[in-house]
Amino acid sequence: MQARIPAGLDRKESEVYRHLDPARLPRHIAIIMDGNGRWAKRRHMPRVAGHRAGVAAVRSTVETAARIGIHALTLYAFSEENWKKRPKSEVDFLMRLLSRYLKAEVPTLNENNIRLEYIGRQHELPEDVQERVEWARKSTEKNTGTILTLALNYSARSELVDAFRSMVNAASQNGGLEHLRIDEDTVGEHLYTRDLPDPDLVVRTSGEMRLSNFLLWQLAYAEIYVTPTLWPDFRGVHLLEGIAEYQKRERRYGGLNHGDSHAHPEPVKVPK
Ligand code: FPP
Repeated sequence: MQARIPAGLDRKESEVYRHLDPARLPRHIAIIMDGNGRWAKRRHMPRVAGHRAGVAAVRSTVETAARIGIHALTLYAFSEENWKKRPKSEVDFLMRLLSRYLKAEVPTLNENNIRLEYIGRQHELPEDVQERVEWARKSTEKNTGTILTLALNYSARSELVDAFRSMVNAASQNGGLEHLRIDEDTVGEHLYTRDLPDPDLVVRTSGEMRLSNFLLWQLAYAEIYVTPTLWPDFRGVHLLEGIAEYQKRERRYGGLNHGDSHAHPEPVKVPK
């Protein structure tokens, strides 16, 4: 049976979607957007031109994810390391770009029923950006479709440090440290992503094979899809290609392949 094509997909997207199993879409997709600088360099343009071009990629990816009914999409917009180690002029440009994106995009997010959230240490962002970020979150908080989470000034190690501090604080306010319980569920409940399922699929653009301090706890069992496409060239159709690749994989969570428990009825002979 052919999958019904969701409204709004273009011809190329429809072609890829047609081969997907709509019952096995990833619930949560995380994306490491990379390659803006290289995209600009290849065109003899300043790095910031790559970031500007990256906004069209964000728009297309978010809209396609919403159209096909992805529950959650998390974008690594900038890391704590980007924030601290890049020239001030580039960081300032990224801040202005984010602010402008939020202002321009809120109506479209609302039309597409998308709810905006953030992870990362936002209190370290410039105050006007914090205000804009909070305004956009409030303006979309009633939407019930895709949850778009932007990782801003985010580091997975800092997130874990914040989670451990938060667990200790919660215990000390709730009868003292003898009530401190540490297990996987409790850590999960104190992460920035406590209201989201763990990502099923992580996409990285520009061919790099690294997680770069992104959602290290949550990506424990995620499928990894790396594409050579540089972020400014990435579009909804590339997201669908990543999903097609994800659907070819068999997720085992440390177990065996389906049927493999009967694959060796005789003791396995170890070659000498
Ligand atoms: C990585 O490319 C990308 C970033 C550090 C910033 C990502 C920002 C955007 C896509 C635009 C704004 C975002 C939103 C949500 C509106 P890089 O500069 O590290 O590229 P390189 O590795 O080729 O140098």
